[in-house]
Amino acid sequence: MSRPFLDWILLVQTGELLGSGRSADVFAIDDGWVLRRYRDGSDAADEAVVMSYLADRGFPVPAVSPMTIVADPDARSVARTDLVMQRLSGPTMLRALIDAAITPEQAGGILAHLLRRLHTIPARASTAPGNRILHLDLHPDNVMLTSQGPVVIDWCNTAEGPPGLDWAMSALIHAQVAVDPVSEVATPARLVLSSLLAHLDGTVNIGDARTGYLAQARARRAADAALSPREVELLDTAVTLVMALRR
Ligand SMILES: Nc1ncnc2c1ncn2[C@@H]1O[C@H](COP(=O)(O)OP(=O)(O)OP(=O)(O)O)[C@@H](O)[C@H]1O
Ligand SMILES: [Mg+2]
Repeated sequence: MSRPFLDWILLVQTGELLGSGRSADVFAIDDGWVLRRYRDGSDAADEAVVMSYLADRGFPVPAVSPMTIVADPDARSVARTDLVMQRLSGPTMLRALIDAAITPEQAGGILAHLLRRLHTIPARASTAPGNRILHLDLHPDNVMLTSQGPVVIDWCNTAEGPPGLDWAMSALIHAQVAVDPVSEVATPARLVLSSLLAHLDGTVNIGDARTGYLAQARARRAADAALSPREVELLDTAVTLVMALRR
């Protein structure tokens, strides 16, 4: 094991835990950098490359440390599960919603703008016409509101494909929260969803419950091992809500 790798392990054992999601923990390294570590052994290398590609094209993502992206994976000075990236300051969009620092209507508008901007960037690998880089998990807990503007985090689900699938996934994620009787943020989730859908224009068609991107999004969510059986049970009601709120 190389010396720098040992240093990172020691650092993360002592660094402040800044945040924890379902799959990863984020530790402060210093004022400028954080280390995000998958708890389940997932590999962070691919998303690091995508984030770096997007940053180079002006999309708001945390800058990724060059030490995370190297041609030879064995030469990485961090573990495969780890991503060293720019430390952001500011609340998540979810926190800002709960604190009433922004309205659900504003949140939906920001999410729509981020999706539209992301989908203007050419795909990195795919040659299929119309395919773009997709986030596939864009919701208020994956956006941080910094003094430089909103920044999108948590690229673990990123893939390349048609933009409509990204819109449909984002809509369905909000709808699942909105129809969850035990969720404390069901009402804002419904309002954010409504605003997001109001920003759908004629260039994106998410389809319906049986065909198109909404149906594909439903299938993806149903197959997501991170979802509890109870969350999967809410999917049909969530699809119905998206259809009802869509103009
Ligand atoms: N670059 C960053 N700078 C500062 N804090 C961050 C940064 N990235 C993430 N965080 C904090 O860590 C938390 C978890 O990050 P992230 O969403 O990447 O984890 P996750 O496990 O993938 O989440 P999920 O539950 O959505 O799967 C965020 O909500 C945020 O508070
Ligand atoms: Mg997250």
